[in-house]
Amino acid sequence: MQKKEKIRKMFAGISRRYDFLNCLLSLGQDRKWRRFAVSKLPEGLVLDICSGTGDVAIEASGKNDVVASDFCYEMLELCSSKISKKGILNASCIRNDAENLSFRDGTFDGAVVAFGIRNVADIRKALSEMHRVVKKGGKVVVLEFSRPTNPFFRAGYYFYFRKILPVIGRIVSKKDGAYSYLPSSVMAFPQRDGFSKLMEGSGFSDIKYHDLTFGIVTVYTGSK
Ligand SMILES: C[S@@+](CC[C@H](N)C(=O)[O-])C[C@H]1O[C@@H](n2cnc3c(N)ncnc32)[C@H](O)[C@@H]1O
Repeated sequence: MQKKEKIRKMFAGISRRYDFLNCLLSLGQDRKWRRFAVSKLPEGLVLDICSGTGDVAIEASGKNDVVASDFCYEMLELCSSKISKKGILNASCIRNDAENLSFRDGTFDGAVVAFGIRNVADIRKALSEMHRVVKKGGKVVVLEFSRPTNPFFRAGYYFYFRKILPVIGRIVSKKDGAYSYLPSSVMAFPQRDGFSKLMEGSGFSDIKYHDLTFGIVTVYTGSK
């Protein structure tokens, strides 16, 4: 099975428990992280890629018109039902592959991806697609897990992240693999300067990053 299809199936399998586990495993920090990322978006129409159950799109709908996109039908179905239950009228959902977006060049004022870019099979392609679909002068925001820099904090965090989180994830989601994939994918993901270089290579300029919660996560911004 292709990596892409494996990832899609993995998220389909945990979709029902995804929001609950996000909140539990991040000790409620995930909302704060997404809110910070959204605060970096420009005004206007924004695209949320790898939107999952839509928490970023919902947060952004407070100030933006939003299109939420994901390639996993099960996640997108939850996203769509959350949007309609909340009575949000300026957000819509569309099934789309982040590596091959179906939008015209320069459609959006901004684009955002939270905890998604690490999962796409070809990160450069997804970044180039985000670059393509935003207008000249538009902004892209990426929220992703990082490896904390402080060695003392990192030691305790790694114990939790590698040993405890996968066990809780497995018990609650009743799926093997997805929550042990999380730490291994974070360990393999390019960090701060490395990821900034990838963004630069995809055409973005004025790249900045901010660590949050001792560097557990990093928010990257770049302009087209
Ligand atoms: C960890 S979830 C993040 C969801 C959400 N953005 C959040 O903040 O919780 C990653 C999402 O990326 C999606 N994804 C992974 N690869 C993708 C691709 N190539 N195209 C579209 N979505 C993709 C998965 O289906 C999943 O919903």
